[in-house]
Amino acid sequence: MASLQLQAVAAVLALVAAGAGAAHGFEFHEATVEAIQLGFSNGTLTSTALVRFYLDQIGRLNPLLRAVIEVNPDALRQAQHADAERRRGSGTATGSLRGVPVLLKDNIATRDALNTTAGSLALLGSVVKRDAGVAARLRRAGALVLGKASLSEWANFRPVEAGWSARGGQARNPYVLSSTPCGSSAGSGVAAAANMAAVTLGTETDGSILCPSSFNSVVGIKPTLGLTSRAGVVPITPLQDTVGPMCRTVSDAVHVLDAIVGYDTQDAAATGAASKYIPHGGYTQFLKKNGLKGKRIGVPNGFFQGYDQTQLNTYKQHLATMRKLGAVVIEKLDVAANLTALLVEIYSEGIAMQAEFKLSINAYLADLVYSPVHSLADIIAFNNNHPVEERLKDFGQPDLIAAQSTNGIGPVERAAIRRLKELNTNGLEKLMMEHQLDAIVAPNSDISSLLAISGHPGIVVPAGYDEKGFPFGICFGGLQGYEPRLIEMAYSFEQATKVRRPPMFKP
Ligand SMILES: *[C@@H]1O[C@H](CO)[C@@H](O)[C@H](O)[C@H]1NC(C)=O
Ligand SMILES: *[C@@H]1O[C@H](CO)[C@@H](O)[C@H](O)[C@H]1NC(C)=O
Ligand SMILES: *[C@@H]1O[C@H](CO)[C@@H](O)[C@H](O)[C@H]1NC(C)=O
Repeated sequence: MASLQLQAVAAVLALVAAGAGAAHGFEFHEATVEAIQLGFSNGTLTSTALVRFYLDQIGRLNPLLRAVIEVNPDALRQAQHADAERRRGSGTATGSLRGVPVLLKDNIATRDALNTTAGSLALLGSVVKRDAGVAARLRRAGALVLGKASLSEWANFRPVEAGWSARGGQARNPYVLSSTPCGSSAGSGVAAAANMAAVTLGTETDGSILCPSSFNSVVGIKPTLGLTSRAGVVPITPLQDTVGPMCRTVSDAVHVLDAIVGYDTQDAAATGAASKYIPHGGYTQFLKKNGLKGKRIGVPNGFFQGYDQTQLNTYKQHLATMRKLGAVVIEKLDVAANLTALLVEIYSEGIAMQAEFKLSINAYLADLVYSPVHSLADIIAFNNNHPVEERLKDFGQPDLIAAQSTNGIGPVERAAIRRLKELNTNGLEKLMMEHQLDAIVAPNSDISSLLAISGHPGIVVPAGYDEKGFPFGICFGGLQGYEPRLIEMAYSFEQATKVRRPPMFKP
């Protein structure tokens, strides 16, 4: 879109964003999960009013932001049902997501009127056997599925402009419309930032929650591998895929995390192994204002580079704030003897990923009740037959083709997986153990690969805006099962800094 047009649209949107919702007793803009529950119980809010508000926001903003691929045609009816249950005091759901509208990334399956396509035209019309494990948990918690969020199609497997998919088009950053919202969970981040849903879910293989959360000024939790079920999620690799919340506050993200963690027979090995990490009483107990006190935080060398001075100064201030709140911040740590070499080597993750992708996407497709495509080979053929819609001239499909040429997990893949294990043992794990760290911190999603290769968790929190108003974040990363302390640190940091402000739709 031409920049003059963008400017005009931006001016209108800024007015709309400031005015809407103010006439009601309940303040819809920036509403938190806790405010929503309070509104339900004091009678100023219904799920119907909430769904109407978000549908309205989607109707108004989506032509520009393209964060939502599909709206659930049953959303209002389900909201009315939730309201009726609340009035009668019936219904089985308890907890903080009851009656709350949730937007799901379009690679998370739902067995309802919504399609599940991972942004690809090839999967349009496919029918799943059941809700994804996380979607089923959300429904049991009483949450309302509002629709599906757009994403970068096939995530890492197409070198696409961040946020682009054949079905969703190009998602836009609501802060600076001409800037990238990052990917692959672009729509989830944009929708959360622009108040197009109460809360959203994204998925991460390497950076796909942490990056769009950073660039859209929302909180993203990338959980420990297996803490949340991957069953029914269009896969990239079971060695790294994980599902997590993307929300406007740490507290909201933690409420969502509580609802989606747990064992799932359909993803038994990973969820079984990680269930030991789930704390009795859930995660909200770690929303502690003094959560930074006594924490040991490492700042690895090499990541705070290539940022401009304003941004670096902001990060410096944040480290000072952490110290002031009682954390021990240890700077200039070497995560490995040679970080550049490490980061280059990590890309042997691609070797394992290609083979794992072929196996797991074929397994996903085989489990569908109906699908226009039945294998990775079919998807490649579909793309070749739809070169315009899939923009083959711009993007090609080299990664899909490379994945197709693999033949299971052989000696090469096993060696790559072993190498990744070593990188983790001698890199992040060694560093964290040696210095007895509770977390490392780094800008945006810069440590996503360190976390990805061994299923470690990370939480991104808004950290600032550059001179153009473009957001950046700070990531607290830890070892498997460190969610409780990461939540303590992230919440304490958020409450002390209160960086997030609603998007301004600048051109
Ligand atoms: C009801 O709760 C909302 C917070 O969700 C608050 O803004 C509002 O003032 C409350 N109204 C009454 C009448 O208690
Ligand atoms: C799902 O896709 C079909 C096309 O196959 C379309 O007709 C339908 O409207 C889509 N569902 C929703 C909820 O958008
Ligand atoms: C680190 O590794 C990279 C890539 O292998 C190499 O080019 C560079 O010279 C190494 N640096 C040091 C200080 O050893």
